[in-house]
Amino acid sequence: MKYEKEINRRKTFAIISHPDAGKTTLTEKLLLFGGAIQTAGAVKSNKIKKHATSDFMEIERQRGISVATSVMTFEYNDTLINLLDTPGHKDFAEDTYRTLTAVDSVILVIDSVNGVEDQTRRLMEVCRMRDTPVIVFINKMDRDGKNRFDLLEEIEAELKLSLHPMTWPINSGKEFKGVYNLDAKNLRLFTASTKADDDDTIAISDLSESLLDEKVGERDAEQLREDVELIDGVYGALNVNDYLQGKVAPVFFGSAVNNFGVKEMLDTFIHIAPVPRSRETSARTVDVGEDKFSGFIFKIHANLDPKHRDRIAFMRVCSGKFERNKYYHHVRLDKDMRFSNPYSFMARSKDIIEDAYAGDVVGLFDTGNFKIGDTLTEGEDFYFTGIPTFSPEIFKELVNKDPMKTKQMEKGVSQLTDEGVAQLFTQFGGNKKIIGCVGELQFEVIQYRLLQEYGAACEFRTLPFYKACWLTSKDQKKLDDFLRFKQQNSAEDKDGNPVYLAQSEWFLNTEITNNPDIQFHFSSEVH
Ligand code: G4P
Repeated sequence: MKYEKEINRRKTFAIISHPDAGKTTLTEKLLLFGGAIQTAGAVKSNKIKKHATSDFMEIERQRGISVATSVMTFEYNDTLINLLDTPGHKDFAEDTYRTLTAVDSVILVIDSVNGVEDQTRRLMEVCRMRDTPVIVFINKMDRDGKNRFDLLEEIEAELKLSLHPMTWPINSGKEFKGVYNLDAKNLRLFTASTKADDDDTIAISDLSESLLDEKVGERDAEQLREDVELIDGVYGALNVNDYLQGKVAPVFFGSAVNNFGVKEMLDTFIHIAPVPRSRETSARTVDVGEDKFSGFIFKIHANLDPKHRDRIAFMRVCSGKFERNKYYHHVRLDKDMRFSNPYSFMARSKDIIEDAYAGDVVGLFDTGNFKIGDTLTEGEDFYFTGIPTFSPEIFKELVNKDPMKTKQMEKGVSQLTDEGVAQLFTQFGGNKKIIGCVGELQFEVIQYRLLQEYGAACEFRTLPFYKACWLTSKDQKKLDDFLRFKQQNSAEDKDGNPVYLAQSEWFLNTEITNNPDIQFHFSSEVH
């Protein structure tokens, strides 16, 4: 393998969590370990502040911050880590789902007080679809959280994930004394600290040692012995292959804000997390070690300057070596393109990069050539698969308020939907334009950006749909008949695929039962 050394030192991952569980805090601690930042507080939270005067003004402000922190690259123990940021706000969940297609593994942060929350469930669904390897970090152990055994049970049951504790906590809240590393067999006593030092671990290979009683007190020492005996009996040693196949998730307990338990996790992550792997395409499996370059676009970010419609397309390199100024093949447009200013993100020494390898993310300046899912190669025609679009949850009719600006509006809507801000459906027969989003906030963003960037005024009319299902059938006639009968509920997506818009779960289930020859899909692959 020509680029073996480069590939094998890369780990590309994302941290996911329900908002407020501690994703930003943990990110910051990891960057501190990697020397990418020097002081705490350097990473701006990209969550929408609760008391923002206006949500979309806040989004505009954050679009600036989030380009810079979209990909955080740092080195730790000779490993090159690409940490991809995901928006915390649930209305931007689609963005997060797409980012998950570009990573090789994830770290899931769970708040020990709140346990499994809404966003945790949804994000894990996406991870399960792709068998993404997961490491769990149970955060905020310095607060009175749920009972640790109950918590593990809850996570296993709710997220359909088998867990494997790697560290074990001694109490929580005010009584939190630290964690015992089940693998390394050492004890780490809890001290509130924001520095990245690691010399306060105490080796205790045999838990019956009286040193344990000395350090944590007799009562807690006894409890730990009992707990560990139980855990050892149930779990045994971690099978790394099960983790790599997404079947078992190692679990760490800690407190991100106190930088506690983070290093243990990072060290294990470096050791076991997957390096970039081969990926499926529409034509064949692309081996990560192939000499020839290939990559795909998973996210598009509009530029902040409304006068310039330039955008940044985020490309994940999947094989070979990406080079500045070299011509590559844009498969969908059947066009060769080169990039003179490929952009690197936070914490690289230079803004412009010369080359990149599998696992890396490169920012490409784009004037409207890219949409999500686009593939670049050295000439071969294929698309990377497994980049799904999920059903929106809110549907509104787009009404143009200024007929003189129809063209601008269409262009704006087309570009915003290419960016993945929203999905566009066109009703069969009626030509009604329906915008589907995951959250209300996105409608505000669209209205605002259409006006600011394209000079097009629009408004929205609420529609009574709750889900979009993509339809396929082996029997084309049956599908056509269905679409004709259900014209009010039928539309096509931006790529011309037929979609059924359901008013309610009851309607949807009825149609599924009544039409056994038609398949209803809850997500659509971009390709
Ligand atoms: P997010 O990105 O997942 O949304 O969460 P973020 O890191 O912003 O953390 C949410 C809140 O939880 C923050 O407090 C943060 O300080 C706190 N936090 C993170 N880790 C721990 C921990 O281990 N223990 C405790 N007790 N708190 C933790 P905030 O008051 O919302 O923000 P801030 O003003 O402190 O920044």
